[in-house]
Amino acid sequence: DRGPEASQDLAGRKVVVSAGGTREPLDPVRFLGNRSSGLQGYALARAAAARGAHVTLVSANVTLPDPAGVSVVRVETTAQLREAVVAATSTADAVVMAAAPADFRPTSVSDAKIKKAGDGSAPAIELEQNPDILAEISRERARPGSVIVGFAAETGDDTGSVLELGRAKLARKGCDLLVVNDVSGGAVFGSADNEAVVLSADGDAVDVPRGSKSALAHVIWDQVARRFAD
Ligand code: CTP
Ligand code: CA
Repeated sequence: DRGPEASQDLAGRKVVVSAGGTREPLDPVRFLGNRSSGLQGYALARAAAARGAHVTLVSANVTLPDPAGVSVVRVETTAQLREAVVAATSTADAVVMAAAPADFRPTSVSDAKIKKAGDGSAPAIELEQNPDILAEISRERARPGSVIVGFAAETGDDTGSVLELGRAKLARKGCDLLVVNDVSGGAVFGSADNEAVVLSADGDAVDVPRGSKSALAHVIWDQVARRFAD
């Protein structure tokens, strides 16, 4: 982290950060989830607080301690994450969606624990799509002039490179900045380090070399703060 001499360029700003991974219940004991640790989102919350922002951290299933001076809202499902983010967004100067929302949820949740059948068969699980929170808040723009940031972990495939997929996702979501991680080599989830490109809707691309999640967090806030100034 930066020392006490760190700039207070976010003083008086209200920011919202989402972190972690949502879980969608199947029955009282099981869920569909993902491997997001919440480390990058927590680093973003700490960095913003250090730079003077009022931070609301919407945290989905993260086992890290609450960062000092940050208000933490705990959620479990994508629907709860959406509600908390949308509620906080109307007064926010910036929103950073570092969380990994589950894209799908079981169409129905069983009140009772699902039991094994004696014949060795397995149940089929029907899924439906969850709402896209980033696309929704980018479209609605509850607070004009706010800066909205998304994250994308991409591997690249036969439809495009990591950067091409990132550009397409930025346009599809309608956010201002998209932080793109190349995860084709593995080792991002739960790792202390991160490496990324910050793409912006105005065509900019800022390369962030491999470094701590705190260092990436500060680059992201630099990019957000620049856009406040314009
Ligand atoms: N996101 C969101 N709501 C969702 C899914 C994703 O707000 N239901 C946000 C994530 O927090 C992230 C960004 O959108 O900031 C990109 O997430 P990603 O999973 O890469 O996007 P998807 O649209 O779900 O695309 P994919 O099919 O590649 O998973
Ligand atoms: Ca997704």
